[in-house]
Amino acid sequence: MSAQIRPVLAGNWKMNGVASSLSELSEIVEGHARFPDVDLVVCLPATLLSRAQPLVTDSGVAIGGQDCHADAAGAHTGDISADMLVDAGATCVIVGHSERRADHNETSETVARKATAAWAAGLKAIICIGETRSEREAGETLDVLSAQIAGSVPVEATAANTLVAYEPVWAIGTGLTPTAADVGVAHAHIRAELTRKLGDAAMTVPLLYGGSVKSSNAAELMAVDDVNGALVGGASLKAADFLAIAAVFGKI
Ligand code: 13P
Repeated sequence: MSAQIRPVLAGNWKMNGVASSLSELSEIVEGHARFPDVDLVVCLPATLLSRAQPLVTDSGVAIGGQDCHADAAGAHTGDISADMLVDAGATCVIVGHSERRADHNETSETVARKATAAWAAGLKAIICIGETRSEREAGETLDVLSAQIAGSVPVEATAANTLVAYEPVWAIGTGLTPTAADVGVAHAHIRAELTRKLGDAAMTVPLLYGGSVKSSNAAELMAVDDVNGALVGGASLKAADFLAIAAVFGKI
């Protein structure tokens, strides 16, 4: 944690949720009043954004998308532009999630273009990086993070337009998490690499940890230096689980 950076708890619903699921979002909005010092964001399926917008208006809870195209518009069947996300009520978007890098062969170069497209539309970009299990076992974690930062984070990134999420691929949806010490090493490395690239602007870029975060491990992870919040998948789908994590963040 850091006194300079407000804690951010971001949910990623991934490919889950239909209109009836928005009751969970309403509950999150109601619950947020209990944790005014924690910024809550829920990255919804694109189909729910415009229906979610009236639920979060003036609430302090932000909604975001989970991906955008690198181009502003054009012949890209099935894709969503950053402007479309804004039009539907989003204020941020995840780019470069490992599931998109794997399922859609997204390179770091594409991710950087998506971040730039997000900024051009007025969205904050949540840029995801993280090593696979085999990369970790080969001792390559920090090199992978360096390469992903070099490729995925444009030099125009600032604390006002970017959050960086460290999500070890092997920790996503598995119930496994790195030790707090390992998270500390990774986040210190990410902060140093960002500082080398962005200068002082990097000092206040929020760094989120993601991968099997739940209320029972949130305190330990949030106590780590340079962990400024979390990006949460499974435990963001139920308001009670998500708010239990917010409660932990609110106490730190
Ligand atoms: P889980 O919290 O389900 O492990 O997912 C993490 C994640 O991928 C968030 O983007």
